[in-house]
Amino acid sequence: MKWARLGVNIDHVATLRQQRGESYPHISRAAQVSLATGAHQITIHLREDRRHIQDEDVFVVHDICKKMGLPLNLEMGATEEMTRIALMHRPQWVCLVPEKRQERTTEGGLDVLKTENFERLKKCCDDIKSSSPETKISLFVEADPETLKRCLDLNADAVEIHTGEYAKDFLENKDLAPHLQKYRKGSMIIKARGWGYHAGHGLTLESVVPLLQEGDFEEYNIGHWIISESVFIGLGHVIKEMLTLFKKYPLKGSL
Ligand code: PXP
Repeated sequence: MKWARLGVNIDHVATLRQQRGESYPHISRAAQVSLATGAHQITIHLREDRRHIQDEDVFVVHDICKKMGLPLNLEMGATEEMTRIALMHRPQWVCLVPEKRQERTTEGGLDVLKTENFERLKKCCDDIKSSSPETKISLFVEADPETLKRCLDLNADAVEIHTGEYAKDFLENKDLAPHLQKYRKGSMIIKARGWGYHAGHGLTLESVVPLLQEGDFEEYNIGHWIISESVFIGLGHVIKEMLTLFKKYPLKGSL
């Protein structure tokens, strides 16, 4: 039997760190815990504006992945700067994503139907493949048949389907059938070429279930929910630890 792989996106640990300008929470610890617990890869997004992951983090996280013999999936925009960085690190996977400075998070898939975008992506894929043939490339796109067919003209290895709208509809109890139908169709287009079929964005422990039941996606990259839920799984434990420490030190004059 085979199961889907889980890539843990640890960008949000870096968001927390950047928000205070401290050295903690350490991204290295997040990568170590994720991989030691069984995650199949670490996903990080080095954004153009460096709002969470920093250039140095890519070294640190890649080093941990290498030590643990597991892949790093580097998400990035298809720019010359990012291509240069990817070629310096040569991760096992690069996931090309659209990037807008103003967006809160990646808001949709790549528009490969637009000639200008297609050419930029083509150059990026070709540059990566010619200098680092062992690096695999995935394209973050919507599950639109025309888009998926056009992806197959690029020198890549997989698509990652943007599940943001699906995840939102799940939370709002809307009909998921149209999404699932699109994903099924997409799977046929992509797998007929032997490419990988991945998914990510907005998924939770609950909303991933219908997708797992379908059994088409071989890999999921999940971040925001995992990190959010971890806060509550850990909060009580950390408070107990802090209170246990307090109990060791009675207030002056209270003995
Ligand atoms: N996959 C891609 C390509 C992404 O851009 C993101 C968000 O950075 C994710 C997966 C993870 O999404 P989320 O943090 O919502 O789980």
